[in-house]
Order: sequence, then structure tokens, then C-alpha cells
Amino acid sequence: MSLTLPDLPYAYDALQPYMSRETLEYHHDKHHNAYVTTGNTLLKGTDLENKSIEEIVVASFGKNQALFNNAGQHYNHLHFWQWMKPNGGGAAPQKIAAKINEDIGSFDKFKEDFIQAGVTQFGSGWAWLVVQNGKLAVTKTANGENPLVHGAKPILGVDVWEHSYYIDYRNRRADYLKAFVENLVNWEYVEKMYGEAI
Ligand SMILES: [Fe+2]
Repeated sequence: MSLTLPDLPYAYDALQPYMSRETLEYHHDKHHNAYVTTGNTLLKGTDLENKSIEEIVVASFGKNQALFNNAGQHYNHLHFWQWMKPNGGGAAPQKIAAKINEDIGSFDKFKEDFIQAGVTQFGSGWAWLVVQNGKLAVTKTANGENPLVHGAKPILGVDVWEHSYYIDYRNRRADYLKAFVENLVNWEYVEKMYGEAI
């Protein structure tokens, strides 16, 4: 079983004006595709070849850095496309909203913390909403790393590599993050991952 690049779940221009066709063409067709292609080359002949992407990510962490980087980014991007939708954002579904209030304080505090995590991730990486020990928390990781290798399950993540925002926002990473939270988040998919995580 090799890694496969999925089609985007929407048209390339469906997330405009918050994320352009050009960004999605480069990000999906070039960057994500490169993780898939390189990941498959690195997987070939290893004992991880027939494992799930989650198993490959966890097993290669700290052991096979090149494979981990590509498999981690494949996992992250598989979900990243699903974590967005046209006319996204807005309020979280009731069950998640209640859990956010309980564990983080309020929905506004979650948005503030999530954006802040993305802004303060030095260099490339990701900001996350995770389930860890039964609680929701906001975290961040560098490069291709993700919460799976830290004993947590991501239910929402945002790519803060420059390839995700530089065409549309130039250096304004905070504006990109605000647009992601307010206008792009696919809360139905977050709810689905939350259901699987608990
Ligand atoms: Fe990316």
C-alpha cells in the first residue's frame, strides 16, 4: 500500500478570496505531491511499506527522519484539505463548543490561542487543536511533526509553512490564520475527527 495524493474535496477556486486557486495548485499539486512521491521512494523496501499512514508516522519518528518528514506532511495535508471548506468558519458545533468552553475557557479564547500558536511557531510548522488525555488543547509543532507523536490526536490543524499563505498574504501570517479560523474551518470534519479521537 503506497501513499496516494487525494483530489481536493472542492474546486481549486472554491476557497477564494481566502485562499487562491494559485495557492491550492502549488500547495496540493506540487508540495503535497512531492511528500507523496518522496515518501513512497523512502518507504520502498522498509517494513513499514504496508502500514497505515498513522503507523508510518509514529514508527518513523526519531528513527528515520527523511521518511518521517514526508509521511508526517502527507498525514497533515490529507486532513488539512478536509479541515477547510467554502463558507467555513463560524461557530463550532454544539458538542465541540461545549468541550472548548470546558477545557479552554471560551470559543474566543480558543480562536485567540490557536491563532497565537500559529503566529509564534518559529519557521515552518503547524498549529493544532488536539485531544489529549480526554481534554482539548491548543498546541504547535515544527516542520512536518504532528500531535500523533506526542500522544495526542489532532482534530484541527493549520499549515503555517510559507507555501500555505505567501502568495495570498505575503508575510502576514496572522491575517492568514484569522481568515482560516473565521472563514475556512470545516467544523463538520473537526467534529468527525473528535468523535473518532474520544
Ligand atoms: Fe503545506
